[in-house]
Amino acid sequence: MIETIKTTKTRIHEVNWDKLEFGKIFSDHMVVMDYKDGQWQAPVIMPYGPIPINPSISALHYGQAIFEGLKAYRMEDGGVSVFRPKKNAERLNKSAARMCMPTVPVELFMECLTQLVSLDRDWIPKGEGESLYIRPHMFATDEFIGVRPSDTYKFVIFTCPVSRYYTKELRVKIETTYTRASKGGTGAAKAAGNYGAALFPTQVAKNAGFDQVLWTDSINHEYFEESGTMNIIFRTGQVLLTPTPSDSILDGITRDTILQVARDWGFLVEERKISVREIVDLMKEGKLHAAFGVGTAATITPIRVINYDGVDYDLGAFEEGIFAPKVSAHLSALKRGQIEDIHSWNYRID
Ligand code: COI
Repeated sequence: MIETIKTTKTRIHEVNWDKLEFGKIFSDHMVVMDYKDGQWQAPVIMPYGPIPINPSISALHYGQAIFEGLKAYRMEDGGVSVFRPKKNAERLNKSAARMCMPTVPVELFMECLTQLVSLDRDWIPKGEGESLYIRPHMFATDEFIGVRPSDTYKFVIFTCPVSRYYTKELRVKIETTYTRASKGGTGAAKAAGNYGAALFPTQVAKNAGFDQVLWTDSINHEYFEESGTMNIIFRTGQVLLTPTPSDSILDGITRDTILQVARDWGFLVEERKISVREIVDLMKEGKLHAAFGVGTAATITPIRVINYDGVDYDLGAFEEGIFAPKVSAHLSALKRGQIEDIHSWNYRID
């Protein structure tokens, strides 16, 4: 059992459960685990709150900071399940390796996560589109301003009751000036710096009336990579087109889940390089039937308008029952235990 210091004053009664916004409310507890002397020390569960740090820690200066995002759901039978958490543990470790940070043994990650979610299970909202978002993260804590990997780290998990990240269909712009990630860079890692670097181009796009950007490759801006905060999937008829994960594209777990469901349902899935030209041609011919962003926070977010070279292509209203709305309803039912979990994706922590 992980040492647990319980809060003496829960904040759960302060939450307005009818008006949950993404990422603004934090549950009562968090897990904190320190890395020093070449190993992880015993984790502690404690009340959510400030962690003392010094201004010289390397995470603040050189960006040794990584994170994950996953969700817990309230099941129909009253139990709790977390969706594919081991995939997040594995991906955290890939990000750690890329950023010269220590890996967290998967069993230890699972123990921390399980006990935290179990303790704060009353914070899991029950409504449609709602869940408990779980944010594991790690940052470098050496007080040293030379550039080298830190010898000490903190691994922390906190959780937030959330509703949808995007609440409407998106207008996105194909980005051909700025770059999210380059070949050989850190794009495949869930490194904090990737998100920081995307803020400015996203702000420019927002100022021009868009909700997000569709990133393209850093060399010629010729091929799609991902969208801000999510992977991208296009649909033409019964075929789904999506860029293959690479060293500049995050290997999304929601992406993997949706492609598996698509295959189960007999859709053809093409994971390959998807060129901007190909998608623009499909849009011109009226043959791009849908585009959607997929991610843990975003779930499945419909894209209504794609802008390229100053032209808006309107993909029309999301069609009921074709693919994305259907897969969204399917996954929502699966996570709540209302339909059979044939791939054993739900990790129950009852
Ligand atoms: C997630 O989908 O969990 C993410 O980490 C995206 C995010 C930056 C909100």
